[in-house]
Amino acid sequence: MTETLTDRPLPDAAEAWRSRPIEQAVAWPDAGLARQQMEVLRGLPPLVFAGETRNLHDRLAQAAAGEAFVLIAGDCAESFDVLRADRIRDQLAIILQMSLILTHGSGMPVVKIGRMAGQFAKPRSSMVEETPDGVLPSFRGHLINSEFADSVSRTPDPRRLVQGYNYSASMLNLVRAFTTGGFASLSRVHAWNQDFVAHSPAGHRYELLAQDIDRAVRFMRACGLELEHERALQQTEFFTAHEALVLDYESALTRMDSITSRWYGCSAHLLWIGERTRQVDGAHVEFARGISNPIGVKVSASCTPEELVELCGRLDPQRTPGRLVLMARMGAERVEDALPGLVAAVRREGHPVVWMSDPMHGNTRTTDSGIKTRDFDTVITELLSFLTITHAEGVPPGGVHLELTPEDVTECTGGSWATSEDALTRDYRSLCDPRLNGTQALDLAFIAAEHLRSLGVSS
Ligand code: PEP
Ligand code: CO
Repeated sequence: MTETLTDRPLPDAAEAWRSRPIEQAVAWPDAGLARQQMEVLRGLPPLVFAGETRNLHDRLAQAAAGEAFVLIAGDCAESFDVLRADRIRDQLAIILQMSLILTHGSGMPVVKIGRMAGQFAKPRSSMVEETPDGVLPSFRGHLINSEFADSVSRTPDPRRLVQGYNYSASMLNLVRAFTTGGFASLSRVHAWNQDFVAHSPAGHRYELLAQDIDRAVRFMRACGLELEHERALQQTEFFTAHEALVLDYESALTRMDSITSRWYGCSAHLLWIGERTRQVDGAHVEFARGISNPIGVKVSASCTPEELVELCGRLDPQRTPGRLVLMARMGAERVEDALPGLVAAVRREGHPVVWMSDPMHGNTRTTDSGIKTRDFDTVITELLSFLTITHAEGVPPGGVHLELTPEDVTECTGGSWATSEDALTRDYRSLCDPRLNGTQALDLAFIAAEHLRSLGVSS
């Protein structure tokens, strides 16, 4: 009998994490059912292919060398209940708009990565939550439980692992269709500017930029270039990423690449380790060590240079450009103190990492009326400090990682359309953290692009 991928015993790389201490572990109440669901996942095809993941690796190596800028963006927590085609299209459109603004402003190619098609699991600071009906397990993302405040909804259900795979597969299918089937063509730049975004100050500014692009395209055509045959103008490369939190899910989707005989996590191209699970000897780092995907690590201001250097040594022993993406999420007030020492330590050790800013997770606050929010100006302050500091430390300001949605939600205050704190209740939909809305996202892209240009950053 010929051996198939699923008959083969899983490598140490995929299972060694089980003997390590684990944070944020999921205790499935029915362990037998959980094992069965993992077995189902092991028998299913990979969601992404190793060759695509290697392409992302190459792009990230360019970013590590200062030749590209990375944009990671999407929901804090994706929902199994919001998988409509128009929503997926609009999420993609806002990322395409932002990357156009960033490329136009900085002169650098933008590596586009969606926190999409798999961002279904959330680490929580507290495993329980006070509700009007008593203390319940916290909501931990649709891969584990559901947000409704009753004990049945909050009980981890392992059937969600296979559901998560199926939802990811159908989203990815549409994302691939949109990015290669004409929607991402540079001749469609106006079509990405939709609905309420188009009527905002940032939307108007984007429209002017789109007209510029049109003129440039007409100019090239007039010069005799046959743009219809230029793949780079007709399609776009788009990658996916999520937090590799539920290791039962991630390890069941680990496959060996037949070309290189290396192991890849096949649930997304880039997997990241969150701030709460990045212990050097912990299970999540052990899992990430065994796979060849690019790995992200969230880094807060409480991480010491020694700790970070040890982590880099563990995850990137070969010092491979593009293997490691460090996502600084320090908070606007702490970034200036904490970041320079961390950047310098990693540079001294010779790790060619991509430094990115996550300017959102260190800037969450709760209003007097109990609403979790983030202020646009504070987010911008951290992002611009990050860009300035990395540049001054002699490493490329490699990218930005954001939580956003194309819709006109009121979750973060500020921006050019000035959402006020009183307005937060108007349309607050996030399942977890507050996201930038479509116009705030474009505002941020314009400000970041200008700052990159003022630093003289271009490839
Ligand atoms: C997140 O990116 O949603 C997240 C939880 O981030 P962190 O691990 O940085 O808190
Ligand atoms: Co979040």
